[in-house]
Amino acid sequence: MYGLMRSLLFSLPTETSHAVAMGSMDIAHALRLDALMGGARLSRGAPVSVMGIDFPNALGLAAGLDKNAEHIDALAALGFGFIEIGTVTPRPQPGNPKPRLFRLVEQQAIINRMGFNNKGIEHALGRIRQSRFKGVLGINIGKNFDTPVEKAADDYLIGLRKAWPVASYVVVNLSSPNTPGLRSLQYGEDLRRLLDQLKAEQLLLKQADGRRVPLVIKIAPDLNTDEVGLIAGSLLEFGIDGVTATNTTLSRVGVENNPLHKEAGGLSGAPLCDASTRVIKELHQALGGRIPIIGVGGIGSLADARDKLEAGASLLQIYTGFIYGGPPLVREIVEGLAQ
Ligand SMILES: Cc1cc2nc3c(=O)[nH]c(=O)nc-3n(C[C@H](O)[C@H](O)[C@H](O)COP(=O)(O)O)c2cc1C
Repeated sequence: MYGLMRSLLFSLPTETSHAVAMGSMDIAHALRLDALMGGARLSRGAPVSVMGIDFPNALGLAAGLDKNAEHIDALAALGFGFIEIGTVTPRPQPGNPKPRLFRLVEQQAIINRMGFNNKGIEHALGRIRQSRFKGVLGINIGKNFDTPVEKAADDYLIGLRKAWPVASYVVVNLSSPNTPGLRSLQYGEDLRRLLDQLKAEQLLLKQADGRRVPLVIKIAPDLNTDEVGLIAGSLLEFGIDGVTATNTTLSRVGVENNPLHKEAGGLSGAPLCDASTRVIKELHQALGGRIPIIGVGGIGSLADARDKLEAGASLLQIYTGFIYGGPPLVREIVEGLAQ
């Protein structure tokens, strides 16, 4: 069923096919036809407990697919153990001009330079409140395009405060390659200053309502071993609750033969898999297992999922693999990990 649907969807322009796919999923869900989509049953997964949260299974939907939290119920019905929405910014913004999303089908990859197109955090919060979803929900926050990098902390603090009442965990996205200067926040004093402010705010928010929301940092794959070690040191110093590794890559290794490889943006999918697993492994070693890792990047099979867990991830996420493999891939991984 998904194979047929995929052929139809892939014949459409990329962003149109995205909208049609999400719309079809919503309709199937509203008609209670989720079983036709071929996803996993939550009851068939292996539960895990990470960051003090109970997850029905370890496989989540990565940020970027449902930026505005408009499809949570339908996505959750496919068997994901958790859903991450966003990246959302304090104010709505259109993102980069189109075209900005490219499928490299032969390589099972995507290049995107969306640029945090989103309707703003208030819109997403409204949609979350309207949804029936009661599962684990991550909210991924970013800075607006026109907020100077020196003032990025202001945007992240707005995001953290607003997301707090509804998020199971909040992800601070420091690793999109499509917002100029953003990745510089992963390094040195800039990172330490930001983490310091975020931790102080997390403490204040917890004191105010008694509930504690874990804080997760999302990093890039384009980091060498020393850089991974330095980031790990800062995450430990400030007691960050989790780290997502990784976002998309600027590398074009493995896709040089595809004419689309020259498109600017972040590469995701199969060609990213090994680089992301390397970062997870190095991060896990540097952290000494003291901070849990959400492993993401190029997972396209149960074997890829197991590799990430072996490298040290406690939770997993997929995006590009889901575009190519659809709900049957969710079932393969969720049910396979429970064997
Ligand atoms: C079209 C597209 C949009 C994305 N948007 C976001 C985003 O808004 N925020 C974010 O943290 N990651 C975003 N990502 C990155 C994914 O969450 C993920 O980290 C990355 O694609 C690697 O996983 P994958 O190979 O399974 O896709 C996006 C990825 C794609 C392909």
